[in-house]
Amino acid sequence: MDRLFNFSAGPGTLPVDVLEEAREEMLVYKDAGASIMEISHRSPQYTALAETTRQHFRDLLGMGEEWHILFLQGGASLQFYQTALNFLTSGVTGDYVVTGAWAENALAEATLVGQARAVASSAETGHDHIPAAGAWDISDRAAYVHITSNNTIFGTQFQDDPIIDVPLVCDASSDFLSRPIDLERYGLIYAGAQKNIGPAGVTVVLVKDEFLKRIPDGLPTVLDYRTHASKLFHTPPVFSVYMVEKVLRWIKSCGSLADMKRRNDEKAALIYEQIDASEFYRGHARASARSNMNVTFNLPSAALESAFLKEAGDHGLVALKGHRSVGGIRASLYNACPREGVEALASFMQDFSERHG
Ligand SMILES: Cc1ncc(COP(=O)(O)O)c(C=O)c1O
Repeated sequence: MDRLFNFSAGPGTLPVDVLEEAREEMLVYKDAGASIMEISHRSPQYTALAETTRQHFRDLLGMGEEWHILFLQGGASLQFYQTALNFLTSGVTGDYVVTGAWAENALAEATLVGQARAVASSAETGHDHIPAAGAWDISDRAAYVHITSNNTIFGTQFQDDPIIDVPLVCDASSDFLSRPIDLERYGLIYAGAQKNIGPAGVTVVLVKDEFLKRIPDGLPTVLDYRTHASKLFHTPPVFSVYMVEKVLRWIKSCGSLADMKRRNDEKAALIYEQIDASEFYRGHARASARSNMNVTFNLPSAALESAFLKEAGDHGLVALKGHRSVGGIRASLYNACPREGVEALASFMQDFSERHG
């Protein structure tokens, strides 16, 4: 079977060049005489690979030595708890901007640890917008403000890095490396790899050195960020890091992160143009908060949505069903989603609305 145009929200589509290179190396990685999955994580080959991967992050994000780059496991979901465990110490608050289901989960985990609070929420309007930073009710005792830069389920996205006086902790799982980041604003950024930068299995954590100094002693060793910042403590997700290295090299081959943002904006605009063209498609997100990663919309009826999904599938456009909690349609247009696939979807949408509108 041929590859289809895959709009999966995650794990998401990967660049074909990356998959082909991995296929070439499947049996033997460089001079290792075995695949990357079969050699020690302390081998010279893996050590060099991990260093190269870190260098790609530094190059793409303009990140200096004051940042540590960790390759952890447990998904973004473990980070909901781990960030709080490390930084939500006694006497401080963890302030959460609740812009979707993942942000709700992050807040819920943090309340298990300490004094976590919602400082703004878009829940009342079905998470269709991003509350303006000026209106966040940040505590004087806030250790950090947690944001979700892109809301995968609802299709909203911060349009800029918020400017506030407290360091940001950011779940960037669904828009990581899709655009530049103003690192100055952040203490820690985490992202599961499986949408924009690789396969599932590795969670990338970027953490500033000065932020690490706030961590109290006595945490479980594997959950203390300092353990991973100082050494290779245990077996990392070797194959996932190997794939991330290839994806980052592919991102670099496309230019800078500003170039990647331009590509992503252009792709998303093709779908938003269809939504704005008539009353047939109703976008979930307000125009001011639209995501260029996950475009969410409804049709006039559930029956038409089913027909849309069926016919789209017949055209080789797959994984477009909205998240079960929201329904409708969701087109995930991550970095590696090819423009020709997005063009095919836009033209299918136009044709479908002309026939059913
Ligand atoms: C924004 C966001 N955060 C967190 C998660 C959960 O990630 P994981 O499955 O890696 O725990 C997801 C998964 O889709 C997500 O989109």
